[in-house]
Amino acid sequence: MKLALTFTNRYIFNIGKLMIMLLMGLIKMSCNPPSGMAGYSPEKEWVDSLLSVMTLEEKIGQLNLVGRDGNLDSATRIGPDKAEAIRQGHIGSLIGVVGAGFNREVQRIAVEESRLGIPLLFARDVIHGYKTLTPVPLAEAASWDLEAIEKSARIAAIEASASGINWTYAPMVDISRDPRWGRVMEGAGEDPWYGSVVAAARVKGFQGDDLSLNNTILACAKHFTGYGSPMAGREYSITDISMRELYEVHLPPFEATLDAGVGTYMTSFTEVNAIPATVSRFLLTGILREQWGFDGFVVTDWSTITQLMEHGVAADSASGAAASLKAGVDMDMGSEAFVTYLKSLVDEQRVSEADIDVAVKRILLAKYRLGLFEDPYRYTDPEREKREVLTPDNREAARDMARKSMVLLKNEGGLLPLSKSPSTIAVIGPMADDNRALMGRWKAEGDKNDVTTLVQGIKNKVPDTRILTAKGADFESDDRSGFQQALSVARQAEVIVLAIGESHKHSGEASTRASIDIPGVQLELVQEIYKSGKPMVVVLFNGRPLTINWLKDNVPTILEAWIPGTEGGNAIADVLFGDYNPSGKLPMTFPYAVGQVPIFYGYKNTGRPDDGSGSRWVSGYYDIPNEPLYPFGYGLSYTTFEYSDLKIQNTTITGDDTLKFEMKVTNTGKMKGEEVIQVYTRDLLASVTRPVKELKRFRKIMLEPGETRVVGFSLTAADLALLNEDLVWVTEPGEFQLMIGSSSSDIRLNGKFEWLE
Ligand code: BGC
Repeated sequence: MKLALTFTNRYIFNIGKLMIMLLMGLIKMSCNPPSGMAGYSPEKEWVDSLLSVMTLEEKIGQLNLVGRDGNLDSATRIGPDKAEAIRQGHIGSLIGVVGAGFNREVQRIAVEESRLGIPLLFARDVIHGYKTLTPVPLAEAASWDLEAIEKSARIAAIEASASGINWTYAPMVDISRDPRWGRVMEGAGEDPWYGSVVAAARVKGFQGDDLSLNNTILACAKHFTGYGSPMAGREYSITDISMRELYEVHLPPFEATLDAGVGTYMTSFTEVNAIPATVSRFLLTGILREQWGFDGFVVTDWSTITQLMEHGVAADSASGAAASLKAGVDMDMGSEAFVTYLKSLVDEQRVSEADIDVAVKRILLAKYRLGLFEDPYRYTDPEREKREVLTPDNREAARDMARKSMVLLKNEGGLLPLSKSPSTIAVIGPMADDNRALMGRWKAEGDKNDVTTLVQGIKNKVPDTRILTAKGADFESDDRSGFQQALSVARQAEVIVLAIGESHKHSGEASTRASIDIPGVQLELVQEIYKSGKPMVVVLFNGRPLTINWLKDNVPTILEAWIPGTEGGNAIADVLFGDYNPSGKLPMTFPYAVGQVPIFYGYKNTGRPDDGSGSRWVSGYYDIPNEPLYPFGYGLSYTTFEYSDLKIQNTTITGDDTLKFEMKVTNTGKMKGEEVIQVYTRDLLASVTRPVKELKRFRKIMLEPGETRVVGFSLTAADLALLNEDLVWVTEPGEFQLMIGSSSSDIRLNGKFEWLE
């Protein structure tokens, strides 16, 4: 009876639907197991009941996700054809349709005018904020502040959910060691362990503790998998990775999202072991379902079903639809192959209705977990939208996230922090007063008019200072005609701030760059201004590591600001003028030259490591060093930290013992500041080759000037596991090196311990 009541209590809009609901309730009542029976799950019961009254067409409709209509504005993002398809039950989810009021109306069509009234999912790429934009994910990862990262995703979810969205296509958890690939800006960088903890924090932020609340949304871990290693860095290119690399590098962050309860996964554009991810049974069923027990649903990436023909593994879209469904795809994004072909595929017995049922159930389950059957309008309250989007608090949080993300790359001579009373500051460069580029590519519903530019941020910070500004050059063109004006502005200034880097077009999807130099003639602009001999700070804006060798060699002060979002200008000003002491550390190596790519700190020693002797016959380059320009984990502060007194409590651990160790960290400078203490290990002798360093733990601590804190960590055998020759995770007995440092190449304390079986 409980279930029948639930059905009748919910939204009931017409007699026909009521009859169906009651019928479903009756079916239910007759097969309801006694409560308390093992395996009884109300949500699964609900889904089974609903499924039992759906036609094949209605089922297929649930597997169909379509985009908004091209040129329509935000008030009318779908036209009459889509509205009719929703009415017919041919669309189960929409992407890019936003706005509480508008989505309410679209949801009303689904709920009141379709036969069964199944609510829609509204998806959007809410990657780093919805309207209040936080820094791009790579930048956020540079904060090494998991709480802040989770909060940032939480705010994005609150805003998006207030605006009609209940599903985001984030986090992207692809590990990448190739800065040519434009999408590195969307991830957490190069390290699988760090990428995993960041991935989990993001899922928690989006989904919260209770998915059925009206301010939590479904997350989607993407792109499953291998997409972060596109061959030659080229977007949409194939991936040719070993099973070892797959398990050691690419899968861990996805598994971390599973543990964090992620509701959905997205396939990737790439292939693994010569099978496009969208038809990889090995990935989608073998790993995701059979090994990991994932019970949410899998959506394809955009049109990847129809792309199977280009890959040369499907003769036509119908075959692609059959193959992807059978491999484990539940929802088709954008290709409309499921909705077009699945019915005839069933008629021709190339696909069974049972396969379709499995996918439908997973999608209905997600809708149930979001609470949409209880209240389909829970994300579409225009009043709430007005209240909760772009609030001063959210802006403040975005500002905090942005300054936490910044990395001080160089501060020779201590020019930073700047005095708050210079007479004149020149802010020069294409980024100085650009509000669009600060938002990045995935701007969701961000509006450039809400963005604080660097010039504005500096004006807010030092209102009595004369601020001169000049663009000097564009991001891309080779037009040098602005140099003169920039130079004349520079000459009048006491301090020059150069705002250069990549525009929003340079990073993100389809933005692979063969050169990762600063684009256009911006570097020349800097070189001209450098000749003035005036004190200058370069503020870099970019979504990926760049080769900035000349800057590193010549300019005394460089601040990495990434793509900092809505409050970028204010946040940079906070850092420049010392109201915030920079604490970010690079989550991705900056190469010395693009020829070093793929580059990452956790490389292997090889049989001929570079021993520094100058020998030619070592693993290295003839023309450049092996060392990167800036290593993983690197970042300065306005203060300095000293590490001392490493104490390993038990240098021999056995079985399930915990290795405990501690050290002292002291703020030896004059300013309060935060340090990211990084713990690396090296397995010194193993049955397979191991990286020279593996990040295992970190902690970010705030210290007052002169303060010393004892910081403790622990590790267990599981943290030391490796994939053996048979690709089985095991911990092998033996000696390990323990390295504690301020970056992956600035190891301050060394120790050894042994693990015995
Ligand atoms: C991207 C996905 C994205 C999807 C929907 C694709 O092109 O690869 O990451 O979620 O579009 O916008």
